[in-house]
Amino acid sequence: MKPDDRIMGRLKPGCICMGIKLHRILEAIEQGASSFEEVAQITGIGNGDCNGQRCGKKVEELLKNLSNKQTTTGI
Ligand code: FES
Repeated sequence: MKPDDRIMGRLKPGCICMGIKLHRILEAIEQGASSFEEVAQITGIGNGDCNGQRCGKKVEELLKNLSNKQTTTGI
């Protein structure tokens, strides 16, 4: 993750319902979480009024983008 991503992650919402910032989600993925359920377990997202409808999409997108980057860079 680039330094700018970290700064923006501290500002952007990750789970609006639970008031959890994006950087918490990114950190969970960096620590090895590879599904929404794993990210939710680590961060506490997904238990709000929308039951993870909004943050679930965000996590799936982040995991997909990370997977694509790893595939293209050979990591
Ligand atoms: S945005 Fe995460 S539970 Fe609603």
